[in-house]
Amino acid sequence: MRVLISEEQIRQRVDLVASEIRQTYGHEPVTIIGVLTGCLVFLADLIRRLDLPIRIILVQASSYRGATTTGSQLAVNDDVLGDLKGRHVLIVEDILDTGKTLRHMVNLIQAREVASVRIAVLMRKLGRQIIEIEPDFVCFRIPDEFVVGYGLDYNDEFRNLPYIAIYEGQK
Ligand code: XMP
Ligand code: MG
Repeated sequence: MRVLISEEQIRQRVDLVASEIRQTYGHEPVTIIGVLTGCLVFLADLIRRLDLPIRIILVQASSYRGATTTGSQLAVNDDVLGDLKGRHVLIVEDILDTGKTLRHMVNLIQAREVASVRIAVLMRKLGRQIIEIEPDFVCFRIPDEFVVGYGLDYNDEFRNLPYIAIYEGQK
């Protein structure tokens, strides 16, 4: 396991991105929709830096099995979204990879007559995107490697590492 992004680097970038988010919304209330399970640690760190009236909704979306980066179906439980009419929505996601998950999330949310939808991602994996979608806030751009830690897992392990590492086991 090789450290890709240290705790200190994460802290600094999350600070900066949180202030960009604060500037974007002013004092408007925001509904944050976190995409589980990978967003967990990022979300917890981010919201404590947001001095805004926020609500939080957590949505389970899973398309991955182990480190496999293709194949399985995307499943989202959107019945938890409830009434978002007129709300400013910020989707918080761990990684923008192919773009399928975020495209699906944005479509589900836009169907609910929201005031706006924006996207914050912890990482954007370069060279993997197949669906056109632009996140509004990005903490890190990373190479096409499988990463774990800071909420991200390999087979549900390593989410508790305080840094982000490249998983060098079997892919
Ligand atoms: P798409 O392809 O829909 O995928 O943009 C986004 C989801 O894929 C997961 N993902 C990873 N999870 N290490 C992980 O633990 C990785 O390197 C990785 N790359 C993608 C992630 O859950 C994200 O929500
Ligand atoms: Mg995820």
